[in-house]
This record gives sequence, C-alpha cells and structure tokens, in this order.
Amino acid sequence: MSQEQQHTAQISLEVNGRPHQLEVRHHWSLLDVLREQLDLTGSKRGCDRGECGSCTVLLDGAPVYSCLILAVQVRGRSVLTVEGLADEGKLDPVQQAFLDQDGGQCGYCTPGFLMSAKALLDANPQPDDSQIREALAGNLCRCNAYGRIIQGVLTAARAMKEGSS
Ligand code: FES
Repeated sequence: MSQEQQHTAQISLEVNGRPHQLEVRHHWSLLDVLREQLDLTGSKRGCDRGECGSCTVLLDGAPVYSCLILAVQVRGRSVLTVEGLADEGKLDPVQQAFLDQDGGQCGYCTPGFLMSAKALLDANPQPDDSQIREALAGNLCRCNAYGRIIQGVLTAARAMKEGSS
C-alpha cells in the first residue's frame, strides 16, 4: 500500500439522488468533498467549526453541519444539498417562499437556512412561529433577516398546504 493510499479511503454515497464513488482523505469533511470534489458550492463555509450553520445539508433527511462530519462517515448514506432542492427547474416551495419574502440579504447563509427549513417542513408541515425559531436556531444570519426568514418558512408552509388541498 502506498503512502497516499494509507491516507485515503474509498467511499460511495448518494448526493442529490446521484450515486458517487470517491477517493477521500481521512481528514476531509463532507463539506470539503461537496465543494472541492463534487463542485457543489451552494453549501457555504462560514465558520468551519459548527457555529454558523451555513454549511447545513440533509443527511438521510436530517439537518447536519457538513463541516463537522468526516467524509468517511457518510459512506453509503444519502445527502441532499441546496442544489438538489429544485425539481427539474421548479423551485422547492421553501425556495420560492424565501424569494417572495426577500428572506436572503447577502445570501451567504441562505442555503443553510433553506436546508434547515426543508427538514422542518418535511417533519412538521405546519409549524408555528416558535417551532420555526427552534428549528432554525442553529443557523446564523449576520444581516439579521430573521423576521423575513421566518415569514418565508410560514409562507412555504401555507403554499404547501394549499398545494396539497
Ligand atoms: Fe459549518 Fe459554520 S461552516 S457550521
């Protein structure tokens, strides 16, 4: 085994519905792999230490900080990033609602908020204000657009309810 091979591992995982086989270094995070290997740069590197939430993705449907998860830990698992939210060009209701409510200012934190909101709405399609605040507590917005972000989630919930009735 070469020295290079000693420091790398083969992993297979699914990202946004597509299977991937990758060779990753043992210390690489899931965020490293998404951004550097798969060129999925929607997930943002803010603090790189689990404090800001801008790197949030869904791992088997649950929101996680991709900067805190090693790539080797996601072997055989399913990842959804912000790039996977739209369906054949049609925005997910939560993306549309954030647009309509002007829920992103500089936009850097928006992908992370969208993923946390998506996880919330998948689990609880009609959350109230306090449930939204709790679900988004791990995401920080330096532009302080929290009011519009919460309105965005409420709008998405309403749109989903109307769409299903
Ligand atoms: Fe992962 Fe900040 S970049 S939590």
